Amino acid sequence: MANFEELKQQFTAAFENAENLEQLNALRVEYLGKKGQISALMKQMKDVPKEEKPAFGQKVNELKAEATALFDKKKEELESKALEEKLASEKIDLTLPGRRPSYGNLNPLHLVEQELEDLFIGLGYQVIEGDEVVDDLYCFERANIPKDHPARAMQDSLYLDPEHLLRTHTTAIQMKVLEEQAPNPIKVVCPGKVYRRDDDDATHSHQFMQIEGLVIGEHVPLSDLKGTLEFFARKMFGQDREIRFRPSFFPFTEPSVEVDVSCHMCGGKGCPTCKGTGWIEILGAGEVHPHVLEMAGYDPKKVNGFAFGIGIERVAMLKYGIDDIRHFYTNDQRFNKNFDRFD
Ligand code: PHE
Repeated sequence: MANFEELKQQFTAAFENAENLEQLNALRVEYLGKKGQISALMKQMKDVPKEEKPAFGQKVNELKAEATALFDKKKEELESKALEEKLASEKIDLTLPGRRPSYGNLNPLHLVEQELEDLFIGLGYQVIEGDEVVDDLYCFERANIPKDHPARAMQDSLYLDPEHLLRTHTTAIQMKVLEEQAPNPIKVVCPGKVYRRDDDDATHSHQFMQIEGLVIGEHVPLSDLKGTLEFFARKMFGQDREIRFRPSFFPFTEPSVEVDVSCHMCGGKGCPTCKGTGWIEILGAGEVHPHVLEMAGYDPKKVNGFAFGIGIERVAMLKYGIDDIRHFYTNDQRFNKNFDRFD
């Protein structure tokens, strides 16, 4: 007859002393497995006298339940011990900073473009963007640059066919606006990319950006142009900037001026940025040529106006001290990140 008590003491001690889950599992097989000691007792049933069978069976079941309960209890204990050991050894440092998601930022040219647009919107200008592919008519003819005019050589561009080309200046947008608005007053700025046959170097690119202003009305004084450009120069380069006009030539303006801003680096004393002159050439401007007005459908005896053209790269380079125009186009994050407004 099996010694139930002895077996019970044996497995109680064994389960109790198991040191890890591996040992515990081996014990489960030894006692509770199909070929384990408790199953072996069941097999002895056939040799037990008939009247003792129920008591014997009940005893074996009790043993099995006890062994299972002991196993479950120990398993839980060892599992939580293992978890605690893992937590203690891994040490999660909750104070470590998280990983920042990477995000893009606007190219500095767009930042300057937006700044300029805001500035002119504040002065009551409307922003108009035109097509990049334009008619020869609006790019040149209407701007007083007929087919044989030498000014065309400086602004040669990519022609799609003899009458269509990539615009060489934002003046092309303005010539169309003039035609559409005649004979009404106008106050617009036209920003955008322009293209020219040009050598690419530190200060030139075959593609660059301009923003051009155009004001048309009855008796528009040239002093308004000066006041507007002075406001622009001070907003972009500092409150104590001065501007000066120098006579110049553009086919579509008469008189034409080149506009200089007093150097923001040296305040006008002379330094490498202004090449020792104290002044930096910043844009072209002038009184819209009467013939340009006439071609668009205005009566130059009744209306007049002014136009100015600003190079966005030039403004950005001067404002931020950028020495090579090509930085704007290479999309190098080391450059672009300097203009990250979230950093
Ligand atoms: N269109 C001229 C250029 O591209 C700039 C300009 C615009 C000059 C308006 C005078 C008036 O160089």
